[in-house]
Amino acid sequence: MICSDPTTTEAWGALTRHRAGMAGVTLRSLFEQDPGRFDDLSWSVAGLTIDLSKQRLSDETLPLLLDLAKVMDIEGHRAALYAGEKVNVTEDRAALHVALRDPTDRAYPVDGDDVSVQIKSARGQMLGFAEQVISGQRTGCNGQRFDRVINIGIGGSDLGPRSAVTALADHTVPNLTVDFVATVDSTALQDALATATAERTLFVVASKSFTTRETMTNAGYARQWLVDALGESAMADHFVAVTAASGVAEAFGVSADAVFPMWDWVGGRYSVCSAIGFSVALACGPDVFERILSGAHAMDRHFETAPLDQNLPVLMGLISIWNQDFWRTAALAVLPYDHRLRLLPDHFQQLMMESNGKGVRADGEDVSFRTAPIVFGGSGAESQHSFMQQIHQSPTVVPVEFIVALDGRDEVDRDILIVNAFAQSEALMRGLPADEIAEGSDKNIIAHKACPGNRQSTTILLESLTPETFGALIALYEHRTFVEGTLWGLNPFDQWGVEFGKVLASSLLADLAAGNADAGLDSSTKGLLNAYLATRSERPL
Ligand code: F6P
Repeated sequence: MICSDPTTTEAWGALTRHRAGMAGVTLRSLFEQDPGRFDDLSWSVAGLTIDLSKQRLSDETLPLLLDLAKVMDIEGHRAALYAGEKVNVTEDRAALHVALRDPTDRAYPVDGDDVSVQIKSARGQMLGFAEQVISGQRTGCNGQRFDRVINIGIGGSDLGPRSAVTALADHTVPNLTVDFVATVDSTALQDALATATAERTLFVVASKSFTTRETMTNAGYARQWLVDALGESAMADHFVAVTAASGVAEAFGVSADAVFPMWDWVGGRYSVCSAIGFSVALACGPDVFERILSGAHAMDRHFETAPLDQNLPVLMGLISIWNQDFWRTAALAVLPYDHRLRLLPDHFQQLMMESNGKGVRADGEDVSFRTAPIVFGGSGAESQHSFMQQIHQSPTVVPVEFIVALDGRDEVDRDILIVNAFAQSEALMRGLPADEIAEGSDKNIIAHKACPGNRQSTTILLESLTPETFGALIALYEHRTFVEGTLWGLNPFDQWGVEFGKVLASSLLADLAAGNADAGLDSSTKGLLNAYLATRSERPL
């Protein structure tokens, strides 16, 4: 029988007892007892090396965690994912992002249709279009080459492609700048338009639903800007849409041959390898886009075929549960040590928090354990000079994932960068007890200098930051997110929790249009709305 509540399993009970037995076991002692700990607990796959040795794992821990993986039927759920079964049970949808990057002839059936055919056709359409823009064969309506792309999208239709273009900055094609506009705060779009020339600007409206208010508001504004400059007929050459709602995009004014499909079986936060990655193909060229797919596919194959005890997404997922539910951590810091990877924490934040930030299991029952951590982060080097103080000394323990690209542009600076990443993980593991603080230190300060240590971290090394390793890294996080959701008995592919806020925002917009707050509103929301209404009435139109 498939188990939906991990806490009812014998494996959970065994882990609870094991955790109690680990209370006095320090990471320092584990390293002292086993000089080969790094070799035992690090693995290399698809250009990534993952070091789990600084996690709080004794010899018994991984076997017990793997028992949980077995009883929660990770293998069965994984097989269902790849088979195109409706694993997104609340929306009755498959989640076939792995099919997007499979270069083989493997069939991926959804409702009896092999979607690999549609995938290849859509990819050919969008990569051909990108090639034509880059080569200058496809131009703006006045025959001028495009030098500017503005991607309008939000959430999964922004963060994946935006972080990819930033990560692969060394691969960008010349003379074509790609900007991303997500927020509905119009200053973002206005800033992008301020340096754009209508004749040479291509807008990409990326929205699976083509109804997201922020995206559609910005798209409408961009359309007006273009039409004011070049007339209505310019829409045919200057707008592309990526969407599962092609009819709505065409009604908006996008020409049919510039609408690239996506499908309800690709979740927004899992969509960077679909046509949602069109802006990546424009920024870096079709070859680089295909190299991202190839790296992601290598990780997909590893996830699908490697035994659980050597399967990196499985091991990372298990360790998340170990930290969240047994060590009672509540957050996860993702720290890339490479300027090019600085936006990854934003992408992974949506991926992990929107997927698994849930309070009910897939079967509709309340959870009785912690689910997704609060994921945050940013450039590691800069974090050391902002929030790392908390991570080193606060009683609130935050596990860290260091992501380190071993190559870079300037070897001298790289040494400083790389050793800082390693020093952070060493410091978190070892700590600095008071009795190790150098003699002669002011006694009053010793307690302030001491660091408790024994704080868990994972380090992921990219042998080189390439399109392939970037793709593998994205796929690694996608799959570990799926593993975590499965272990918790959740559906990692829906996001119902964001809908309520959208409904209330619509109702408040109606209040604004009427010029007064609804009498039934609570006094706080009413007071806030009235404050805004007052400033709005004073503002010149
Ligand atoms: O509101 C949440 C969400 O649906 C995300 O899941 C999604 O990535 C984002 O909005 C954008 O959605 P769309 O691509 O449909 O505009």
